[in-house]
Amino acid sequence: MELKGKSQAMTERFLDENYELAHLEVTPGEPGGSQSVDLPVLHGTMGPSVLDIRKLYAETGYFTYDPGYTSTASCASNITFIDGEKGILLHRGYPIEELAEKSTFLEVAYLLMEGNLPRKKDFESFVESITLHTMVNEQLHNFFQGFRRDAHPMAIMVGVVGALSAFYHDSLDIHDPKQRLIASHRLIAKMPTLAAMAYKYSMGQPFIYPRNDLGYAENFIHMLFATPAAPYKVNPVIGNALDKILILHADHEQNPSTSTVRLAGSSGANPFACVAAGIACLWGPIHGGANEAVINMLKEIGHKDRILEYIKRARDKNDPFRLMGFGHRVYKHYDPRAAVLRKTCQAVLDELGNHDDPLLKLAKELEKIALEDPYFIEKKLYPNVDFYSGIILKAIGIPTSMFTVLFAVARTVGWIAQWMEMLEDPSQKIGRPRQLYTGSTLRHFSPLSQRKD
Ligand code: CMC
Repeated sequence: MELKGKSQAMTERFLDENYELAHLEVTPGEPGGSQSVDLPVLHGTMGPSVLDIRKLYAETGYFTYDPGYTSTASCASNITFIDGEKGILLHRGYPIEELAEKSTFLEVAYLLMEGNLPRKKDFESFVESITLHTMVNEQLHNFFQGFRRDAHPMAIMVGVVGALSAFYHDSLDIHDPKQRLIASHRLIAKMPTLAAMAYKYSMGQPFIYPRNDLGYAENFIHMLFATPAAPYKVNPVIGNALDKILILHADHEQNPSTSTVRLAGSSGANPFACVAAGIACLWGPIHGGANEAVINMLKEIGHKDRILEYIKRARDKNDPFRLMGFGHRVYKHYDPRAAVLRKTCQAVLDELGNHDDPLLKLAKELEKIALEDPYFIEKKLYPNVDFYSGIILKAIGIPTSMFTVLFAVARTVGWIAQWMEMLEDPSQKIGRPRQLYTGSTLRHFSPLSQRKD
């Protein structure tokens, strides 16, 4: 059976038909003996098979221990596939390189959510629905006044996206597929509007309303850079570059923020609250915040003569410094998104007449030295998506503090697609990991007056 659509019921059937049993012996080091259990090994369509341990505790009394989930598949999904050893990324089976070159962000959004590329009529009604939801409730404008002008835009986004749940009560019932869809379209449509408002607020400029005659990326740029004082025309080079960046960030299977969205959603939380949780997780500097950190690092390095000093620091176990934009949990090969961005970066800078951008030159030099360094070779550390994205964003005039916000705008599509898939999954349960307890054993309370120093 080939899985092409998005149905979770199909996934269930597929897994039921594609398994075998593995025999596991657990022999503890204390008297008490050995336990054995037969566990199903499930086979997906691609990638490593998984040991189904759902019955392990009930049958043996053991949990598994896997901090950081390095060996754990938290769900079955048919949205995105990554082969980290070969540097392959597929969305619903389509290579990211083809999508970045030939598709648009909204078409990729449709693909991720619906499972297949749209036919013309379906795409038109999808685009129309997104376009009709771009404005936010006028009262939401007041929320912004509560933030300091120098607040980080990601801090604002965590607040205002969560606040959408206080405005759109007619799309909060997660058990109603229609409401789920409307909430999803609202989120995709309103994220650029809220992101641009966060930026305008920090600049002390008036908010710019969305323009529904513009494409998704163009409208976003317009809301960021237009002012009521003068007409503003979006440069198509910039519009296309941003659209491509959005495609490259749209989904990446069970990354930390997506897993956060799924975990929040597993309790039945509404989609606006779940996406706010995803934004909070994405903000971290070793996840989505890395694009901002790369630019700060490149500025700090400043000159190619200082690269070796920073490579040395990255190698030093006693120095917390890491080469930002390098390394990935899944990719042990060049991140295919970074490869597209490296090319795009040069093309965009050339088109903007900025042939010798010093940051790009420094980044390329840093990449070259790192890729030849024994430490980076041994640990299979390659540039990831964040290494070149910041340089393009900077070149098209996006301020550094907005980089991760742009990532959040794009990743909203992946969060939503994965959240919907989870809710349609018949095997879905509340996400509730267990632990290996290492704290104090039972002891009894003593009053403060009787406690000794
Ligand atoms: N610079 C120097 N050493 C590194 C780096 C790096 N960027 N990345 C990993 N290592 C070392 C790490 O110290 C460890 O060494 P050892 O085996 O001696 O302890 C080894 O490589 C494995 O690293 P890890 O931290 O165990 O691997 P992980 O899978 O848990 O972490 C990562 C992956 C992305 C958090 C990490 O590579 C990192 O911190 N990179 C820099 C931040 C970054 O660019 N993040 C963006 C990730 S891609 C986009 C996204 O997720 O949003």
